Amino acid sequence: MIDSYLCSMSTKPQDIFPKIISHCKEYGYVFPSSEIYDGLAAVYDYGPYGVELKNNIKQYWWNAMTRINENIVGLDAAIFMAPKVWKASGHVDSFSDPMIDNKDSKKRYRADNLIEDKIAQYEKKGKTDKATALQNALDACMVENNLGGLKALIEEHEIVDETGSKNWTDVRQFNLMFGTQMGSVAETADEIYLRPETAQGIFVNFLNVQKTSRQKVPFGIAQIGKAFRNEIVARQFLFRMKEFEQMEMQFFVRPGTEMEWYAHWKQKRMNWHLSLGIAADKYRFHDHAKLAHYANAAVDIEYEFPFGFKEVEGIHSRTDFDLKQHMEHSGKKLQYFDPEINENYVPYVVETSIGADRMFLLVLCNAYTEEKLEDGSERLVLKIPPVLAPVKVALLPLLKKDGLPEKAREIMDQLRFHFRCQYDEKDAIGRRYRRQDAIGTPYCITIDHDTLVDQAVTIRFRDTMEQKRIPITEILATIQDELSEEKLLKKI
Ligand code: GAP
Repeated sequence: MIDSYLCSMSTKPQDIFPKIISHCKEYGYVFPSSEIYDGLAAVYDYGPYGVELKNNIKQYWWNAMTRINENIVGLDAAIFMAPKVWKASGHVDSFSDPMIDNKDSKKRYRADNLIEDKIAQYEKKGKTDKATALQNALDACMVENNLGGLKALIEEHEIVDETGSKNWTDVRQFNLMFGTQMGSVAETADEIYLRPETAQGIFVNFLNVQKTSRQKVPFGIAQIGKAFRNEIVARQFLFRMKEFEQMEMQFFVRPGTEMEWYAHWKQKRMNWHLSLGIAADKYRFHDHAKLAHYANAAVDIEYEFPFGFKEVEGIHSRTDFDLKQHMEHSGKKLQYFDPEINENYVPYVVETSIGADRMFLLVLCNAYTEEKLEDGSERLVLKIPPVLAPVKVALLPLLKKDGLPEKAREIMDQLRFHFRCQYDEKDAIGRRYRRQDAIGTPYCITIDHDTLVDQAVTIRFRDTMEQKRIPITEILATIQDELSEEKLLKKI
């Protein structure tokens, strides 16, 4: 029973994070990219369990969007887009971060991150007034795009770089888009960009999708795909990557109704997170102080990571900015005729945008649990929501003989087309349970000598470690009921 063991209280949240990172590597969740060449900053590869977890996260999002909403359809737009797209969207001119170089160490930093770190230091030392004043000053500089102000704060608070130097350049804006060439001859090739968000593929296809899927406003287009940002400062593992995946949905609405839809999606998206069984007090909303150039309202859903509350998803009311910009730059009409009011208009857009990798990190941080058991032993368990777990069922013959492996494989053959299964016959049963705990497998099925007689197995539940005897004929229904996406998605 869960009451019978104590959660380890010895590890502070900030100490947990390095453990989660090494657990990811050790158990095949995430590897540094090109590791044998010493890696590539802020780029990661997903291992055998990682790719399963990430696919399950994407599938759960996709089903929540396109299966339970008849008026949301999918799209898979190309990563490369006409260069004019990024001029129209504003990314060429204003998708940038304030950067500062240290003249001694030659290292480059994000100016706002340096100041945020200083605020955290003040907070740690109990200098709350100083921390609040500096936070307010930082917010003001960011809202006004005041680069000189950021430099002044860095000097005033005597912020040093990691080598201890305060010899700073001025703060400059640094565009985050990756450029490359398209064409056979370098001199004549066009410069194009790797998309920094998936949203623009949806905007430029708005009419194609609306007409071919015969949707009426309000309706949405959902997409999952890679995005690329030249994040100079690699921080916090998967939290800020150069190549990552977004799950975005643009919801097209009648002008004037956008605030109702904004409130609707804000709640729906929070419900999606909570439907996974993650504690509500680990989440909060955070309204944007500084609105992006395209938004008239924006809120983040934040999760309490081991390094503090941070954004995992954004909900933005993007007005008609993007469609109007694309109309202007392409010369094509992107209007909708609304038969209910007999009017043509450019729809307004409410967007929900979540990073698949950031959600992956959230799931792992939330799942990673060190427990001290009643008998004094310890176990490390990933309490991943079962619907997302990479392996759902482990089949464990008690012994490697007496027909038990054959029986276990026979049962696995009945289950493998329903769930991802894993067969394991090596080591004592206790060690095999621990191995499955460490990768987050929610159900272990043990096949013993009695199974051959009574056609029943022992099912062990990961989180409670409760064990139950059930007939083989009931395994499928029992696990299907536990994993029912229908039950979870109905909560949204
Ligand atoms: N289309 C709107 C948009 O792109 P955003 O707030 O820049 O908005 C949305 O990004 C989400 O994408 C974020 O909430 C985060 O989950 C994810 N994301 C953004 N930059 C990321 C990065 N460098 N690494 C990992 N995920 C990132």
